[in-house]
Amino acid sequence: MKLYIGVDLGTSAVKLLLMNEQGEIKNVVSKEYPLEFPQPGWSQQAPEDWRKAVMEGIPQLLQGFNGADVAGIGCGGQMHGLVILDDQDKVIRPAILWNDGRTAKQVDFLNNEIGKEKLSRLTANIAFAGFTAPKVLWVRENEPENFSRIAKIMLPKDYVNYILTGVHACDYSDASGMLLLDVEHKCWSREMLDICGISENQMPKLFESYQCIGTVKPEIAKALGIPENVKVAAGAGDNAAAAVGTGVVGEGGCNISLGTSGTVFISSEKFGVDNHNALHAFAHADGGYHLMGCMLSAASCNKWLMDEIYKTSDYAAEQADITDDKLGENHVYFLPYLMGERSPINDTNARGTFIGMSMDTTRSDLTQAVLEGVAFAIRDSVEVARSLGIEINTSKICGGGAKSPLWKKIIANVLNAQLQCLESEQGPGMGGAMLAMVACGEYGSVKEVCDKFVHVASTVEPDPQLVAKYEKRYQQFRQIYPACKALFAEFVKEC
Ligand code: XUL
Repeated sequence: MKLYIGVDLGTSAVKLLLMNEQGEIKNVVSKEYPLEFPQPGWSQQAPEDWRKAVMEGIPQLLQGFNGADVAGIGCGGQMHGLVILDDQDKVIRPAILWNDGRTAKQVDFLNNEIGKEKLSRLTANIAFAGFTAPKVLWVRENEPENFSRIAKIMLPKDYVNYILTGVHACDYSDASGMLLLDVEHKCWSREMLDICGISENQMPKLFESYQCIGTVKPEIAKALGIPENVKVAAGAGDNAAAAVGTGVVGEGGCNISLGTSGTVFISSEKFGVDNHNALHAFAHADGGYHLMGCMLSAASCNKWLMDEIYKTSDYAAEQADITDDKLGENHVYFLPYLMGERSPINDTNARGTFIGMSMDTTRSDLTQAVLEGVAFAIRDSVEVARSLGIEINTSKICGGGAKSPLWKKIIANVLNAQLQCLESEQGPGMGGAMLAMVACGEYGSVKEVCDKFVHVASTVEPDPQLVAKYEKRYQQFRQIYPACKALFAEFVKEC
């Protein structure tokens, strides 16, 4: 028997998954780590915490199994995070994460002084606060001493891969989100590196996600209880890995991920750019490309409401009062911009907002407003894709939020699209293990492994009457952000 380990290096935890060669998930282990918000809108994490969580988690994952059977490891990781290493490969400062909004000034410089047109020509994308290049510029301006020590620039999952193998590698899907890659031609953009004051030898070596970057170092293999010849795949950004895990590869598939972030991921065989750059144009883990809309707070809005405001861990109980007759009837709206927002509005100043309450508003109306606000914001990205002529009548769905049948029903009706739920919603971890199988030569292509292992377990169909009700609500929701935009900017100035 051969075993494969899938690593989903998330924002709140690493989720490790053990898969056998038949694609059966044999064990899952999750290990949490802290997230620091040193200032409003800033978000950092210690790469050492990722290392510890992976090194402790893998032996736990293998308890009751024979470590000697492990053949490969593949990782899907939170994207865009800036990890900087010195010439001894020591981490210089905490990683600045994908949902960090400190780089408004650098984003403005890139988009308005270098210019969106040039950025899009060089990288297929424009600058967003969470992308890596603006963070490099932020470190250069605000921490010159740290900047001068940078020997390598890495992404989060690549740091884990480095710990395992000693190789500085990155795959094209994750590299796409750095704003340093020429996405179409799959090479570092010399001009972008120049703009950021860095050179190609500070960048990791590029691979396809399903290629092997090396084998696990002897001392690491010993510590983990696995053989030295275990192969490590280049892996992918978590959204591309999730798309592999949900079988969204090749032309025209769609996956919605309802995790800390919320993403709409549209796979394509050919390179293509949204002319307004509202959607990201990135490489995919199957060797192709994808368009993606990313909202910064999705399932995390519900988690915030439950954990921080209601102080409850029973999420299902809070949703129990939201019966079918209440859907499409809520007069309360919620803007889910708790960390600012990326797609499609690109506004670091935007904030969460409840609006429309009256004396008869109940606790469950607020809960419903949060679930609906996230669904409406997902629709904002779906509408951009539809405006490009992309039909989205069906989508896969994965991530922690996809465990809620109510939330899936709301999303299916807000989008007027059928949602396909899979046997497992372990998107990125499953995708990571599948990429490892290809890297080990078990399968010839990512598509082949998807065809073999990904099975739709159930579907959620939109109901025309509810779709019509939600259409009206969505048109109202769309007016809220433009009405608040100037105020958000003013509030931030006062902070
Ligand atoms: C995608 C993005 C997020 C993170 C979350 O562009 O920033 O989905 O990858 O882990």
